[in-house]
Amino acid sequence: MKQVVNIEDLRLLAKRRLPKIFFDYIDGGAFSETTAGRNRSDFSQWCLTQRVLRQKDMPDLSCDYLGSAHALPFMLGPVGFLGLYRGRGEILAAEAAKAKSVPLCLSTFSIASIGTLHKEVGGDLQFQLYMDRDKSFVEDLLQSAIDADIDVLYLTVDTSVTSVREKDVRNGFRAVTRITPALAFSMIQRPAWCLDILRAGSPNVEAVANYPEFGRGALEQASNLSGRLDASLTWDDVKWLRSKWKKRLVIKGILSPLDAKIAQDCGADAIVISNHGGRQLDFASSTIAILPSVREAVGPEFCVLIDCGFRRGSDLAIALALGASGILLGRAYAFGLAAGGRAGVEKAIDILSVELSITLKLMGLSGVKELQALGTECVSPSV
Ligand SMILES: Cc1cc2nc3c(=O)[nH]c(=O)nc-3n(C[C@H](O)[C@H](O)[C@H](O)COP(=O)(O)O)c2cc1C
Repeated sequence: MKQVVNIEDLRLLAKRRLPKIFFDYIDGGAFSETTAGRNRSDFSQWCLTQRVLRQKDMPDLSCDYLGSAHALPFMLGPVGFLGLYRGRGEILAAEAAKAKSVPLCLSTFSIASIGTLHKEVGGDLQFQLYMDRDKSFVEDLLQSAIDADIDVLYLTVDTSVTSVREKDVRNGFRAVTRITPALAFSMIQRPAWCLDILRAGSPNVEAVANYPEFGRGALEQASNLSGRLDASLTWDDVKWLRSKWKKRLVIKGILSPLDAKIAQDCGADAIVISNHGGRQLDFASSTIAILPSVREAVGPEFCVLIDCGFRRGSDLAIALALGASGILLGRAYAFGLAAGGRAGVEKAIDILSVELSITLKLMGLSGVKELQALGTECVSPSV
């Protein structure tokens, strides 16, 4: 992947390789895509502090979050249907994550199940849960996570209803439960993708393959899974989950200091500040804009993760200076996967590692831990 210099290059390669219906699904945001745009543009509200002649060595990127030491301050967050962007996509992403020593959080909406990833790849695996209306099914999912030795569970809470992504509406993505002529036409424009997916075998959402009520084939199963998401989810359900899941629990989709505090009071071990990549509440704040007030609300010790819009090493540095404990990547690695499989995901991780390393060196810092300790001394509002 020599021609790839940055994450945008991976995005453009993904665009060339994927059927339009899938590229638009990954790339798009809700309604006017204002929040999706803010997730990127709000990083430019900040300046990094340049200090010189302080450090001889290249920076140390290791840091601690979620109670463990990590080689890098970022990980691969939950992105649904990786196995539709590349054959065996979840496996390839997990292999890349393991090779680069970063955690991967597997989405509920995945082709390969958490059990398969655990058996075939291993590494630092985590699991993301969408709350189904049927609590006994949720308990089955929790048991699969326990059987796969998962220590960290994410509950995603910003999808009480699926928002409108207009590109998906135009492409007919939402309505698709089987291969329609329009979908078939979109697919055959991308023969390399077709061959790769065919080689991997007919895709199924493995976690629900033994439940006939979800139907057959990934498209129908996914549609039924989303139709069953619990729209009436409240903090009482979080308390229920807390009582069932004894290991680390992370609430993903927090975008207000008040909710951050409630999550903390409900016994969560961490939160992810997230607006789902601008795919849910349009005109919501960017995550980077809300980070300082969330950090203030929960105090200095609580684990605050963040995602949305991270495409550059400088984005990572700004978030770490403003109080993030760690960062989840979304599209940055999903584009890498679509563009180049395992090598593409590794490329995304390498690009961000190198960019962060150069950024910290030019800021005169010894590493991520010093950046986090100095915090707002390392960043100021741009004027
Ligand atoms: C194609 C796609 C699928 C996603 N699927 C899930 C999912 O299944 N579960 C979840 O919690 N978040 C999901 N997300 C949201 C991501 O976890 C993350 O919050 C978002 O991608 C961050 O924004 P970014 O892509 O701009 O970095 C998805 C995002 C995308 C782009």
